[in-house]
Parts: sequence; C-alpha cells; structure tokens
Amino acid sequence: MKLPARVKIVDVGPRDGLQNEKQPVSAEIKIGLVHRLQEAGLKEIEVTSFVSPKWVPQMADNAEVMHGIRRAPGVRYSVLTPNMKGLEAAMAAPREEWPDEIVVFGAASEAFSQRNINCSIAESIERFRPVVAAARENGIYVRGAMSCTVGCPYEGEIAPERVGMLAGLMKDIGVQHIGVADTIGVGTPVKVQRAIEATLAHFDIDDISGHYHDTYGQALGNTLASLELGVWQFDTSSAGLGGCPYAKGATGNVATEDVVYMLQGMGIDTGIDLDRLIDAGVYISDALGREPNSRASKAIRTRRAG
Ligand code: HMG
Ligand code: MG
Repeated sequence: MKLPARVKIVDVGPRDGLQNEKQPVSAEIKIGLVHRLQEAGLKEIEVTSFVSPKWVPQMADNAEVMHGIRRAPGVRYSVLTPNMKGLEAAMAAPREEWPDEIVVFGAASEAFSQRNINCSIAESIERFRPVVAAARENGIYVRGAMSCTVGCPYEGEIAPERVGMLAGLMKDIGVQHIGVADTIGVGTPVKVQRAIEATLAHFDIDDISGHYHDTYGQALGNTLASLELGVWQFDTSSAGLGGCPYAKGATGNVATEDVVYMLQGMGIDTGIDLDRLIDAGVYISDALGREPNSRASKAIRTRRAG
C-alpha cells in the first residue's frame, strides 16, 4: 500500500470545536488556543466563523479573535463565510487581519442545508458564487466544505452521487479545495472512500481533504481509508472538541492528537510536536472544565505522570 509521505493537518478546534460550546469561551482563551496550536507546529488553523451571531452565538467575537491573533510565518488562517455579509465582515478589518482562506459550506443533503444555512443546496450555491468570486479577486483562497457526505441526521444515508453533484457545483463556481465531511460521524471506511471517489470526479486528490467527526469512533479508520486513496489533508480538532449545532448528537471532530499519534506511528510527517499539541488540548479543556477527548492525550499524560 502506497501512503502519502506527509500529511497536512488543519486544526478546526477553535471553530468547529468551540462553535458548539454552550458555555461562553472568551476571545482571549480562543486566541490562546490558536497561539498554542501554531506553537505546536500546526500550519493551518480554522479560527472562527463569520456567521449570524443569532445562529451561532459562540462565534460572535469573530472580529475580536481575528484581531487578537499573533500571526506566525507560514501559518494559514481560515474562517467560515456563508454569504457576502460574512465575507464583508471578514474583510472589514485591515488587510493584515484578513483570513488567508475562507470556507463556503454546503451540504449533500437538502434537509441539512435548510437547517444549517436556511436555504436549499441550489440557493446556497447562488449565495456562494459572489463570495467565491470576491474572495479570489482579493487573493483569498477558497475552500468548500461538503456536509453530510455519507449520512444526514434528517435524511439518513446519502448516496455518493449526491456528493459528486455538490462537488461539481462547488467546482463550477470556482471553489479551489474541497472538504469531504462526515458531519455526524456515521461513516465507515468504504462509505467514506465512495464519497471521496465521487469528489475525485471534480477535484484533484491534492485539492481534497477529509473532515471526520468521531461520533461512532470511526474517524481514525476513515482517515486511514482516505490515506489509502491518496488524500493527505485532514481537518481535526484539538482535544476532540466540537460538533455541529445543527446536527443533534454529533460529537467533535477526530482529535488532532489521535491523528498525529497514528500518523507518527506510520512514519508520516506532520510537522507537529505531539507533546506541545497535547498541552494545547489540555489548555482548552481546562478552560472548559473537562478532560481532553483524546485517547492518545490521555495515554501520554498518564505516562508522563508515571
Ligand atoms: P438567514 O437568516 O437565512 O440570513 O441565515 P439572512 O440573510 O436572511 O439574514 C438574517 C439575519 O442574519 C440578518 O440580521 C442578517 O444581518 C444576519 P437581522 O436583520 O435579523 O438582525 N446575517 C449575518 N450576521 C452576521 N454574519 C453573517 C450574516 N448573514 C446574515 N454572515 C445564515 C443564513 C447562513 C447567515 C445563517 O443560517 C447562519 O449563520 N447559519 C450558521 C450556520 C453555521 O455556522 N453552522 C455551523 C458551521 S457548518 C459546520 O459545522 C459543518 C462543517 O464543520 C463541515 C461538517 O462537519 O459537516 C463545516
Ligand atoms: Mg464539522
């Protein structure tokens, strides 16, 4: 089996992780998490979302967080922008505070699209079109995220053809990179591979990433199955934080710590210092008053204490 020699991890903890937290988390803590992640060697961090604060109150401090982060050379900072209002808000700051990358997020399921962004799949594409064009004109890279590529909390199983259709629509409007998300973590390796193969009809392997929530404990298996197809970019969440507010019962993304431990064990380069990463996960978990949701973190901290 030929596997990629290196993997790029995008830590989405500050966004996907914290968006679902009911308790307030201060901008200062969020900024502290971003700093610890970059110090651990993360080269891309999904910092926040420019979405409606009525829908996702936890991300209401988006501008404050973007203003407060100290940028490290070679690190890319991304944010979610579902519409022009979101992009304009992200670009209202001085240029040096703009995101390097924005994410437009659609769904392979109609019902999820309605619940998450209040419009149909077709309408979402029309909303994204000017966002993608304006971002690219301003030198901001555009990533697309496809939710519910294997299963939907409202519609059940999702056929790969629907993923292919959405990927094609995203490509047509100029999206440069696409994330295949298992929003509710129901996917298993072969189903995830089918979703990736459907995406491959429209995007190159180098422009595809995997985004797996770990609700059913399948995310590491799904990551390995993706590596087998040549995928080498993954979204993961420090301390396994998170979930989607519009996907009831869905837990966080696979923990960055668990993925890095697996990849290091396979001799795949991530550029990440696992010890420092574990400390970043402890930092945010302490702030939330809980243990990191990562088996590797727990095992390594037990060994350290020993
Ligand atoms: P809408 O209500 O249809 O929008 O929401 P609207 O254009 O009719 O505007 C309604 C109000 O929202 C107005 O305010 C707008 O100004 C305001 P009002 O006049 O009532 O005071 N508004 C905004 N405010 C700030 N920033 C904006 C913005 N847009 C409108 N960008 C909308 C549509 C998309 C805005 C809404 O549905 C929304 O914000 N949804 C949030 C969805 C979200 O953040 N979900 C979680 C992230 S996606 C995810 O987690 C999945 C992912 O991880 C992959 C995976 O795992 O599947 C990426
Ligand atoms: Mg997600």
